[in-house]
Amino acid sequence: MATNITITDVGPRDGLQNLARVLSVVERASLINSLIKAGVSSIEIGSFVSPRAVPAMKDTDSLFNLLEVNDNVDYFALVPNLKGYQLAQSIGIKNVVLVVYASNSMSNSNVGITMKEAEASAIKIIKQAIIDRIKITATISVAFGCPFEGNIDPAVSVDLIDKLSDAGADRLVLADTIGAANPRQVSSLMNRLTEKSDPQFLGCHFHDTRAMGLANVYAALESGIRYFDTSIAGLGGCPFAPGSSGNVATEDVVMMLDQMGYCTGINLSELLS
Ligand code: COA
Ligand code: ZN
Repeated sequence: MATNITITDVGPRDGLQNLARVLSVVERASLINSLIKAGVSSIEIGSFVSPRAVPAMKDTDSLFNLLEVNDNVDYFALVPNLKGYQLAQSIGIKNVVLVVYASNSMSNSNVGITMKEAEASAIKIIKQAIIDRIKITATISVAFGCPFEGNIDPAVSVDLIDKLSDAGADRLVLADTIGAANPRQVSSLMNRLTEKSDPQFLGCHFHDTRAMGLANVYAALESGIRYFDTSIAGLGGCPFAPGSSGNVATEDVVMMLDQMGYCTGINLSELLS
């Protein structure tokens, strides 16, 4: 039987947050519904962040209310702080993405606090989420390289993974926020992590800035990773990370996985239509 791979399309959040044009909630919902039609069952629909910081993510609450309740689809929303978590929780979001940082400069640029403060805030939110029965994906930003600090010691990510899994996060995702990683670096970090943690709790989020996104997905697959964030049409980028460009494209990853005999549940021709 083919091995299942879970793909979360982060285009409606990571993709749209960086576009010059701010889409309406109806346009955002239409993109999400097309993904669902193609069989994507895990979608990051938006974020609950300051609308001044990221205007394109305004009104994610109205967007969520426009979406059909669908037991076969998990809707994720990213939150930067407790306020964002409370907003997401209050409207019934069941899957929340938290971000912690492998560098202080990135944490400061993105959310205006230190990486330690971001870690403490994430742990507090995870504890609340357990009570609220909300699933938490904790993403480690700039795990493979930082636009401000360059190389990042893998020990920083290892330490964060330990603390966040002890706190009770449901999944831990290593993010190459600016597309700095190469496949050997990915194998090295993911092998180190899978020695200690069950690979089913780990995931990867690659940007394709230097055209190594797909090679990095392959390296992570070989390390046993079965969960990937991707973005339809390779949309994406972080407005607070200079040099960050789109995520590895969903259609490219699905095509590679299909041909390698993995099962994603996503229909490639529907995705491309
Ligand atoms: N959702 C909506 N509004 C929020 C919010 C949230 N999660 N958190 C704070 N705010 C509001 C505050 O209520 C306040 O509003 P007001 O000025 O009308 O009173 C305003 O935003 C500023 O709040 P403050 O706590 O002083 O935060 P800040 O200005 O230092 O900004 C963040 C901090 C985290 C809110 C902001 O940097 C942010 O939203 N960053 C998100 C970055 C992002 O999405 N990056 C890409 C994804 S990784
Ligand atoms: Zn990203």
